[in-house]
Amino acid sequence: MKKEISRKFCVAPMMGYTTPYARKLYRILSNKSFLFSEMIATKSLIYSKNRENIIDNDCNNPVALQVGGSDIDELIKASQIAIDYNYDEINLNVGCPSKAVQRGSFGACLMNDKILVKNCIDALQNDKIEATLKCRLGLGRELNYEFFEEFIDEISKTGIKVIYVHARNAILNGISPQANRSIPPLNYVFVKKIKNKFPNITFILNGGIDNLDKAEILLGEFDGVMVGRLIKNNPFILKEVDKKIFKEKNILIDESIINNYFEYIKPKLDFESIFRLLSPLLSIFFSVPNSKIYKSKINDYMKDKKINLIEDLLIKFVSERNLS
Ligand SMILES: Cc1cc2nc3c(=O)[nH]c(=O)nc-3n(C[C@H](O)[C@H](O)[C@H](O)COP(=O)(O)O)c2cc1C
Repeated sequence: MKKEISRKFCVAPMMGYTTPYARKLYRILSNKSFLFSEMIATKSLIYSKNRENIIDNDCNNPVALQVGGSDIDELIKASQIAIDYNYDEINLNVGCPSKAVQRGSFGACLMNDKILVKNCIDALQNDKIEATLKCRLGLGRELNYEFFEEFIDEISKTGIKVIYVHARNAILNGISPQANRSIPPLNYVFVKKIKNKFPNITFILNGGIDNLDKAEILLGEFDGVMVGRLIKNNPFILKEVDKKIFKEKNILIDESIINNYFEYIKPKLDFESIFRLLSPLLSIFFSVPNSKIYKSKINDYMKDKKINLIEDLLIKFVSERNLS
């Protein structure tokens, strides 16, 4: 049975960031946000010996597993794996413009083949898990609403219920995937138009939502928002989400968040890299100015795996800078 889930506030899938560890931290900070895994290629999902470490869920629901792929048999298997690991949703990535992903015939280049995408969604669907899509508005530098509508029209034939739209085109050549997260310009109007055209589909708006006030305003117009870099750069923003977006009261958040997170990662140090375990917290040093001394100390401690000293230092940093 599929569960009823709120996707009002979603944390975007981000490769190298939304690891099982980051999701644990995000869940400590927000009960209500809908979380995503990183994109995982279906082949890795099916054949990797390291699968447990890549997709472990550890009760961080509600959460979606995002996959990249276009092989129908692999997608059917991926969907079963998502169910086995207790994910609430399996999401197909049709938005990543990277060359490596294009070589593997998945990601944004699939927007050129709407029939194949429709077949992929069909393959992911079953009565135990929600199969969803994350896409762009289109391909190339020119915006074309007709192209977008024809694409969504084809996908709608699967009976899909939820589509996440990164509200700018994907550019497959000439710029980096990183640059393609800021150019070309966003266009929220297309998402509004498509939402009105397909009222049975929930469209979640993504792209450029860089503070919670903006998220709150956009929620007046859209079914839900998906936020990426804002949370990557400072996960502590999530502590505001339940209060501001979900109107929850009495949320007590203090330095125990850091303690909880460290209790969770310490036993994993024997088999996982210290950088991967700490990376969800380390990005705050890049978004908060004048953190150089902390950064270099943490670097030294990481080399020697001095986990308790790192924990103390983070607690000091977070309380000094009023992050918690
Ligand atoms: C470091 C990084 C990695 C990303 N990896 C993925 C990914 O694995 N799958 C995906 O669909 N989008 C990925 N994205 C794109 C985000 O999900 C999102 O669409 C994009 O950052 C725009 O949202 P924002 O403006 O809120 O950051 C990534 C973005 C960043 C910054």
